Amino acid sequence: MVDSEKFIEDAIAEIKKEVGTQRAIIALSGGVDSSVCAALAYQALRDNLYPVYVDTGLMRKGETENIRKAFRNMPLTVIDAKERFINALQGVSDPEEKRKVTGEIFIRIFEEVARQKQVSYLVQGTIYPDIIESEGQIKSHHNVGGLPSVMEFNGVVEPLKYLYKDEVRELARALKLPPEVSERMPFPGPGLAVRIIGEVTEEKIHIVREANAIVEQEILKHNPWQTFAALLEKGTGVKGDVRVHGWIIAVRAVQSRDGMTADVLELSYEALRTIASRITSELPDVARVVYDITPKPPATIEFE
Ligand code: XMP
Repeated sequence: MVDSEKFIEDAIAEIKKEVGTQRAIIALSGGVDSSVCAALAYQALRDNLYPVYVDTGLMRKGETENIRKAFRNMPLTVIDAKERFINALQGVSDPEEKRKVTGEIFIRIFEEVARQKQVSYLVQGTIYPDIIESEGQIKSHHNVGGLPSVMEFNGVVEPLKYLYKDEVRELARALKLPPEVSERMPFPGPGLAVRIIGEVTEEKIHIVREANAIVEQEILKHNPWQTFAALLEKGTGVKGDVRVHGWIIAVRAVQSRDGMTADVLELSYEALRTIASRITSELPDVARVVYDITPKPPATIEFE
């Protein structure tokens, strides 16, 4: 485990040395890694740092507001790119294609802002497991880690690249970031797009986002490593004596150390029944709720 206070001090000095009086940009995703990175870089660079958050429309319920709140002391630029993402995802149902499409829009938006602001450095929250996993190429993980190969910067600053997640969380606490940030579960870069099987539509985004909020309310108290809802296909149900063709929501809750392998969280039957009942009654278009009982491997944590 690193000594947080010392690490913070050294990282700030290092960023100052590297970037000097030039300008740097950082993409905040809402996750703990980019948040810690932004907090460090802001202390080092102040007004020469441009923190940017792209609202993809594929974020969890309340996420954009939470980020605005958590970073209210920084000149955060929030870019509303909801329409751009949904339009680009039209007709795309292949998981890797979704990652490619969403990743590319991020890069385009970034290029636009970087050009406008005339920045020369990119700060990013790459951590050690990101490097290992992308070497293994298990999935084309899209996060800001994919940016520098396509974009031209004088330099890329990655202060967290030798750290593990639990060490980054320690730093977040030491930097006094709110618990919604320091204890936040992992969330995939392409967001809810990879929690919808098949084509992404606004209706599906709405349903999976609401279902996910219920799942978090019900399952976070059982301390999972990660939990979420995914939207599968449609299936038949009966609601108020009428047969309906409604959505099937899958609930996932896992324990893991680093996401490379995972065990299913053993929830009580009562907890599961409450979740099914809340989702089907609060979301009239959902007919069925299933709990995924597959560990990783052979399944992955996400459905796509
Ligand atoms: P899988 O589904 O591969 O996920 O078992 C392992 C961990 O990685 C997260 N994940 C992603 N994170 N971009 C990300 O930044 C992605 O494209 C992506 N896909 C999966 C997943 O949520 C889990 O924590």
